[in-house]
Amino acid sequence: MTATCPVSGAAQPLPEYPMARAAECPLAPFPAAEQLRAEQPISRVRIWNGTTPWLITRHADQRALLTDPRMSDDDLNPGFPYVNQHRAAVAPLSPRMITNTDAPEHTRLRRSVNAPFVVKRIEAMREPIQQMVDRLIDEMLVGPKPADLLTAIALPVPSLVIAQLLGVPYEKHEFFQRFAGTVLDSSASPEEIREVSGKMSAYLKNLLDEKIADPADDVMSEMGGKVKAGEMTHTEAVHMSTAMLIAGHETTATMISLGTLALFQHPDQLAILRETDDPKVVGGAVDELLRYLSIVQTGVRRVAKEDIEVGGVLIRAGEGLIFDLHAANWDPETYPEADRLDIGRPARNHQAFGYGPHQCLGQNLARLELQVVYGTLYRRIPTLRLAADISDLEFDHTGTTYGVKSLPVAW
Ligand code: HEM
Repeated sequence: MTATCPVSGAAQPLPEYPMARAAECPLAPFPAAEQLRAEQPISRVRIWNGTTPWLITRHADQRALLTDPRMSDDDLNPGFPYVNQHRAAVAPLSPRMITNTDAPEHTRLRRSVNAPFVVKRIEAMREPIQQMVDRLIDEMLVGPKPADLLTAIALPVPSLVIAQLLGVPYEKHEFFQRFAGTVLDSSASPEEIREVSGKMSAYLKNLLDEKIADPADDVMSEMGGKVKAGEMTHTEAVHMSTAMLIAGHETTATMISLGTLALFQHPDQLAILRETDDPKVVGGAVDELLRYLSIVQTGVRRVAKEDIEVGGVLIRAGEGLIFDLHAANWDPETYPEADRLDIGRPARNHQAFGYGPHQCLGQNLARLELQVVYGTLYRRIPTLRLAADISDLEFDHTGTTYGVKSLPVAW
């Protein structure tokens, strides 16, 4: 799993991106991206529509470029390197929101939702999340064996948490889960996506009206207050809620399931977690697993608004850039023995949440959810184990996040 993971053979003139993984090292970065990081850390790749954006693979280069104001996240700018044909088709129809705007519009939208995500407010959710995780584990323990960790724990936790954060009634969480699953499913048809998106947006519009009329202590009510004060529009508040729902669901679910798989592959590290109740150890494990797995496999995408020279390379205005987070998080200049999962290493400066102004809004919440799950699951079920051969697991190679389609576990 560690020292034997290969880098690819002869360098291709222009590799296709996303790249292939090595079957024998399913949790490692794309071997070809690792090779580029070593030999040509800013180089061109070819994507689905034949265009050739730059691939940025080093940790330091990513930091410099992702904080450079000449980079744009606005996918209406010519040259933006869309992830796939569907994203290219919907970009002109998509509302302007936190995920596709630059400063100053992005700064205003982001400020309007920053408050609920500060550490102190998120920390107040620890106890309710703990109760939720304990209840889901209780339910799994009385159910059939093997259980699918994905459906038993990994998927319900983020949908329940986001529903609670936004102030959505509990009964609606399955509807939330279905919505996020369809929107992120690369095999879903545009019609299916349009249909669930229409239903979700109608539901959230009504809910926002209810929160404006009768506010409670939740994020939707807070946005409702801003709508009333003229600081954001009703439509922006609905889109913001949708963004949180999509961005916070599959990512966290994947970290729960793939993180558990990585620990099954590293029994020494799992043993440390099983035996500790030290929040520092658990917190360190969360960041190390985020670094090690760097699950956003389509990379972070930008387009240059002006010419930029970096690392001896001239990136011209209108050229696209893809930031391969996994390659950067395995950069040996930043992380010695980067291919080793070591929950004791200082990993907090990883880029699994991106970097710069668009760095993940929900990272404190995601960390908390993972701390509670990793800090509870293996201690409560010390015999938890993979109930399949790793070679029989089906990995999702096409979704925004890299994960397993199910994770059979027994105890
Ligand atoms: C382990 C879980 C998560 C991972 C790995 C993750 C990863 C990321 C990454 C890489 C970005 C940067 C995208 C870019 O720069 O283009 C991002 C942005 C974002 N994330 Fe997360 N995320 C996670 C959980 C969450 C949660 C729980 C929420 C919300 C409740 C959330 C909400 C957002 C939002 C709204 C953005 C857009 C921020 C902006 O553009 O300013 N994420 N996330």
